[in-house]
Amino acid sequence: VDNIVEKLKNNPQIKQAAKKLIQNEVVAFPTETVYGLGGNAGSDEAVEKIFTAKGRPSDNPLIIHIADRGQMDSFVTDLPEVALQLMDAFWPGPLTLILQKKEQALSEKATAGLGTVGVRMPDHPVALAILKECGLPVAAPSANSSGKPSPTTAEHVAADLNGKIAGIVDGGPTGVGVESTVLDCTSPVPVILRPGGVTKEQLEEVIGRIEVDPALMGAETKPKSPGMKYRHYAPEAPLYLVAGGIEGVQRVAQKYRQEGKRVGILATDESAPLYEAELVLACGERSRLETVAASLYDTLRLFNDHQLDLILSEMFPEEGVGHAVMNRLMKAAGNKVITD
Ligand code: TXA
Ligand code: MG
Repeated sequence: VDNIVEKLKNNPQIKQAAKKLIQNEVVAFPTETVYGLGGNAGSDEAVEKIFTAKGRPSDNPLIIHIADRGQMDSFVTDLPEVALQLMDAFWPGPLTLILQKKEQALSEKATAGLGTVGVRMPDHPVALAILKECGLPVAAPSANSSGKPSPTTAEHVAADLNGKIAGIVDGGPTGVGVESTVLDCTSPVPVILRPGGVTKEQLEEVIGRIEVDPALMGAETKPKSPGMKYRHYAPEAPLYLVAGGIEGVQRVAQKYRQEGKRVGILATDESAPLYEAELVLACGERSRLETVAASLYDTLRLFNDHQLDLILSEMFPEEGVGHAVMNRLMKAAGNKVITD
C-alpha cells in the first residue's frame, strides 16, 4: 500500500487536489468509508467553506484526517494507552478517536469550539496520497448535503455539491459504505458515540470493555456526538422500518397499496423476489451484512428517482456492522418503526 500511495502522490489530479487544500479551497475525495469533503483544518476560511457547501449546522464538529501519527503532536495533548493500542490495531481504518485537543490548535470552527477533537487515518490510497502530498491535517465531513445520505460514489458527491466546491477526485465506489466508528477516549471507559466500520466486538477484543452512548439505543438523552442529534441519511419519501420479518413487510406493503399508496421496499438479495410493490430494491445480502453496509446509501438515494408515497425497510440484526446499518436506517426513518 505504501508503494501505491507514493506513486499516487505524483498523479496530476492528486497534486492538484493537494494544491487546492493548501490554498484553503475545499475538495472531495474518496476514503474507505464514504467520500469526504476536505479542507485545511488549521484555516477558519477553509472550514467555513465546508460548512457552507454542506449546509451543515456549525455546532457539529468535523473529523480531522491525518496520514502520519506525528501530525497529531501539534493538536492533541495526550494520548491515552487505549488510544495507542487502537491505533496499532485499526489505523489506517474506519475508526475515529475523540481525544483532548491542545488549546489554540486547529480552527475553532472545525471542532465547533469543543475541547476535544476527532481524529482518524483513512485506509484509502487516494486519501492517504492527498493527505501526504498537502502535509496538512484535513477536516473532512462526509461530502453530502447535510441531511442527505452520505456519498459512496463521486456521482453522489456531484449530485449534492456540484458548483459549490473546488473539485472532486473520483476513486470509484467506496468499500465499507458506512462512516467510521466514533469512539470517545477521553472518559475512563471508552464510549462509542457512533457505530461504524469497526465493530464493538472488534474494539473489545483489543481493549476490553467499552460502553455505548445511551442516546444511540433510543434513550431520550442528549447524544454526546453532536452529529447524532440531527435527522440524517433520509430519502425524500418517508421511510419506515417494519418489524416481523418478510411477512411483516409484505402485510404492511399490502395495506398501504390497497389504500392507493405508491410503496417502495428496501429488501435484500434474498427477499426482493418475494415482494410486490411499486419499487423493490435489494440492498446487499442479508447473510453478509457488510454488503448491506456497502450498498445502503446508494440504495437510499435510488428511491428518490421514483415518485413514492412511502418506503418500507426490513430490519437487520444488531451485530457486527449491523449496528451501524440499523443506526443509519433508524436515523433515516426518524426512529419510526411499524410493529403491526
Ligand atoms: O467515515 C467517516 O468518518 C467520514 C469520512 C469522510 O472520514 N467522515 C464523517 O464525518 O462521517 P461527519 O462529519 O459526517 O461525521 C462526524 C461525526 C459527527 O457525528 C460528529 O458529531 C462527530 O463525528 N464528532 C466529530 N468531532 C467530535 C468531537 N470532538 N466530539 C464528539 N463527536 C465528534
Ligand atoms: Mg456525515
